[in-house]
Amino acid sequence: MTPPMVEARGLFKRFTLPRHSLFAASRTVTAVEGVSFAIPAGTTFGVVGESGSGKTTLARMLLKLEQPSEGQLLVNDQDIFAQTPAEERAYRRLVQAVFQDPYGALSPRMRAGAIVTEPLRALGVHRRAADMKAAEVLELVGMRRDAASRYPHEFSGGQRQRIAIARALSVDPRLLVLDEPVSALDVSVRAQVLALLREMQQRLGLTYLFIGHDLAVVRYLSDAVGVMYFGRMVEIGPARDVLRRPAHPYTRRLVALAAAEAPLGVARLGGGTLPNPLSPPSGCHFRTRCAFADARCAADAPALREIAPGHNAACHHLDAIAAGTKAETGPLLEEASRQRAV
Ligand SMILES: Nc1ncnc2c1ncn2[C@@H]1O[C@H](COP(=O)(O)OP(=O)(O)OP(=O)(O)O)[C@@H](O)[C@H]1O
Ligand code: SF4
Ligand SMILES: [Mg+2]
Repeated sequence: MTPPMVEARGLFKRFTLPRHSLFAASRTVTAVEGVSFAIPAGTTFGVVGESGSGKTTLARMLLKLEQPSEGQLLVNDQDIFAQTPAEERAYRRLVQAVFQDPYGALSPRMRAGAIVTEPLRALGVHRRAADMKAAEVLELVGMRRDAASRYPHEFSGGQRQRIAIARALSVDPRLLVLDEPVSALDVSVRAQVLALLREMQQRLGLTYLFIGHDLAVVRYLSDAVGVMYFGRMVEIGPARDVLRRPAHPYTRRLVALAAAEAPLGVARLGGGTLPNPLSPPSGCHFRTRCAFADARCAADAPALREIAPGHNAACHHLDAIAAGTKAETGPLLEEASRQRAV
């Protein structure tokens, strides 16, 4: 079997928040809790989950902007937090990112050409060669050549995101971290930018970590999907399996909402209040919102279990829920029913 390009092994990220006062205990948020996954080269791993589930923290670790508290992150079999300076330089070129806010991500005082060449110039590439590369990648992402001399405010949101993609592509990366790259765009433009990302992946053989709120968007690009809830990966597997045959009650609810065409289903899923990240529920983090929760769910955290080849879910009652024999007895039954009726 070919080794994966990216492999996360038991990743944790804890943030210690400043104390309220000298005598207060320090407070810790576990943004990512024991997450493992693998991304084969040339494929997309989609990560979905509502706000605060740890998606960006995961992305920032892959970009080496945050260091894991525990666990390993390997790219091409190399631990990215145990690199020599030369390996680190090569890695910074291999991995690039595109974020949600196309305007905020681009410096307003720089022309598009300079924005696109900046990462190349930082690598010491000569100006002329960098300008040629900028023209090439701007054309690749469907921008006119004269775009290079214009400023970000002269472009639409979709065009700005194309420039951000061109900038990422300018250094010939192999891995793109896409953190909600289309969430700020209108629906029609969103489809075009997604199609562009797909085309770039096919033409250049890129590997993507694609983060999204919207199940429909994640489904469009992803070969495999991971569903995060409060720092934990609660379901993971081939996209078609996870999205067509969701097993975890949380994923089932996401899929049901998406099927009901609730736009941005994940963001609106909440209904009730989200648990406090400083004191997440014991056992299964989802139990305060799960219709099937019982005493065992409060006592033990469920581990991921394989339910079909490569398809894993973390819930104590997968079989009974799938068989329809698990009674809806959870403490938030009322809220869950109300959400199902949305
Ligand atoms: N630098 C930080 N210091 C303290 N807490 C942090 C920090 N970064 C993230 N967190 C916390 O970690 C948790 C996960 O945050 P993260 O930004 O990774 O979530 P997310 O899934 O990307 O959310 P969103 O969909 O809103 O972007 C949240 O509770 C957040 O408040
Ligand atoms: S049934 Fe229990 S373990 Fe499964 S998702 Fe609900 S609360 Fe978690
Ligand atoms: Mg985020």
